[in-house]
Amino acid sequence: MESELSKIVIFGGTGYIGKYMVKASVFLGHKTFVYARPITPHATPSKLQLHKEFHSMGVTIVQGEVEEHEKMVSVLRQVDVVISTFAFPQILDQLKIIHAIKVAGNIMRFLPSEFGCDEERVSPLPPFKAILENKIKIRRAIEAANIPYTFVSANCFGAYFVNYLLRPHDHHQQDHIVVYGTGQSKAVLNYEEDIGVYTIKVANDPRTLNRIVYYRPETNIISQLELISLWEQKTGRTFKRVHIPEEEMVKQSQTLPHPENIPVSVLHSLFVKGETMDFELGNDDIEASKLYPDSVFTTVDQLLDIFLIDPPQPATAAFT
Ligand SMILES: NC(=O)c1ccc[n+]([C@@H]2O[C@H](COP(=O)([O-])OP(=O)(O)OC[C@H]3O[C@@H](n4cnc5c(N)ncnc54)[C@H](OP(=O)(O)O)[C@@H]3O)[C@@H](O)[C@H]2O)c1
Repeated sequence: MESELSKIVIFGGTGYIGKYMVKASVFLGHKTFVYARPITPHATPSKLQLHKEFHSMGVTIVQGEVEEHEKMVSVLRQVDVVISTFAFPQILDQLKIIHAIKVAGNIMRFLPSEFGCDEERVSPLPPFKAILENKIKIRRAIEAANIPYTFVSANCFGAYFVNYLLRPHDHHQQDHIVVYGTGQSKAVLNYEEDIGVYTIKVANDPRTLNRIVYYRPETNIISQLELISLWEQKTGRTFKRVHIPEEEMVKQSQTLPHPENIPVSVLHSLFVKGETMDFELGNDDIEASKLYPDSVFTTVDQLLDIFLIDPPQPATAAFT
């Protein structure tokens, strides 16, 4: 019997967060497609391996570019839900996906590449702001095209930022950890596997139609200083905290060339200003752990345990 579950295509599915979405989609029983750029003779072994892994999971990989409009439309006509996890330099390429969705005319839900802060509720330093402005342009284009959507504010990718902040892969880890600003502002760290699963859920949930969904479970709200203390408890080690003052970060964001000025402006927004925790969620806002009270997010404490046993690999490119 044909599955009643929606069919999902993921653009950018071979990327850092995209692969978690693909795996979650298959895990939750959806017929899953990935629209990926063609494999070339220069493809890395890890990219080839991921394509192989997807094939073995039953994923249909369609090799194509966003410029191939007809090919995109024909894939879109075979699915119900579209998720994009394009990296920040490709955010505006999603205008081509929006155009193809409009032409296909059958898509029940589109989740554009967001998965960070709610770009309309933060005001970061200019290099990060420029990226978020492109994401806002995509929001407006989706609304103008009358495409049913869900915008996901997944907050910080947990393993990604544990890798970045604590450097657990550095076996010769010095006795210090860098702290951005005072280290006291709170951020939300969500494990990527959960982000994948909750994203597939919200993409298919009538309650999240044309809404923003926040992933802000109580158990995952933590400051840098608290994160370091927790890591010390777990590893039995003690680290010196080396602070980079806020003024220094602001200066770097103004003086470093683009795109090297982006990471510092992201760190400033997330961990110095604590912008993802800088606003209350009201009764009207949708928060994932409340929407699905029977599911649980991996806590930050549990995430650090995962790092002790089988550390998730760092992203190949930071802050993409
Ligand atoms: N919340 C957080 O902590 C956090 C952290 C990082 C990123 N993000 C956000 O998450 C989203 C996805 O980021 P990501 O780091 O997962 O992306 P990524 O791994 O750098 O790239 C995603 C995919 O985009 C596709 N792509 C299409 N055209 C491309 C081109 N011309 N050049 C390079 N790649 C191209 C590639 O897939 P194919 O090769 O299969 O075509 C690539 O694997 C973005 O919106 C980003 O801002 C959030």
